[in-house]
Amino acid sequence: MDLKNYVPLKNFNWQPEKTAAEISSQFATSMSTRRSIRNYSSKEVDDTIIRNAILAASSSPSGANQQPWFFGVIKNKPLQSTLRKEAEKCEKSFYEQQADTTFKSALEPLGTDHDKPYLETASHLIVVFCQQKIPQEDGSFAPVYYGIKSTSIAVGLMISSLHLSGVATLTHTPATMSFLNDILDVPRYYRPQFIVVAGYPEEPVKVPAISRKPFQDICKFY
Ligand SMILES: Cc1cc2nc3c(=O)[nH]c(=O)nc-3n(C[C@H](O)[C@H](O)[C@H](O)COP(=O)(O)O)c2cc1C
Repeated sequence: MDLKNYVPLKNFNWQPEKTAAEISSQFATSMSTRRSIRNYSSKEVDDTIIRNAILAASSSPSGANQQPWFFGVIKNKPLQSTLRKEAEKCEKSFYEQQADTTFKSALEPLGTDHDKPYLETASHLIVVFCQQKIPQEDGSFAPVYYGIKSTSIAVGLMISSLHLSGVATLTHTPATMSFLNDILDVPRYYRPQFIVVAGYPEEPVKVPAISRKPFQDICKFY
């Protein structure tokens, strides 16, 4: 390994051994209360919370440090209505023509269909794009490495930040999403990956009765 470009890291997050396990336990407990929310009230989320969540996302590791993400934040009801209309059009044709019976039965416990009122009611929609290629001065394009993986890690950090700030989210992935480039005027070499819905839940807060796999089924120490 060549260390010639390395610099000292002055702010590594050292923690006393005594409290480190407690910190990690508290984080796991807080995150265990995160659920995807599909019914939102009209209460607005402070832009600062959204901005900080995106800042947290931007601290994500990324393949070759290419940071291939772009976050289009929508808090504008007419634009949300347009997005909802487009998304529902795509989802309707997906549910009616493309989704096979196996996929439909996997979705059944969630009760989802093409109707997406939360796209209009939730406070903010964060459209997360992943850069596919990088324009060069000579007009050619350089490749992006591990773009989707990097963007997905960033979204995980963003969702964690929102959850810890008391904001509900839904990770929504419409079947076709290129209309988002047009609506938000984002070049086609960025591909929409997620719409993260962010807001406050409508009360009483209800979620599908589903469970998480036990630890022993998802992890083995070697
Ligand atoms: C990549 C991804 C795509 C998803 N797409 C949708 C979606 O399009 N619509 C939806 O209602 N939920 C969607 N979800 C949410 C999942 O259904 C939800 O995370 C899962 O059922 C577990 O529930 P929980 O988030 O409450 O723990 C998606 C989640 C992920 C990670």
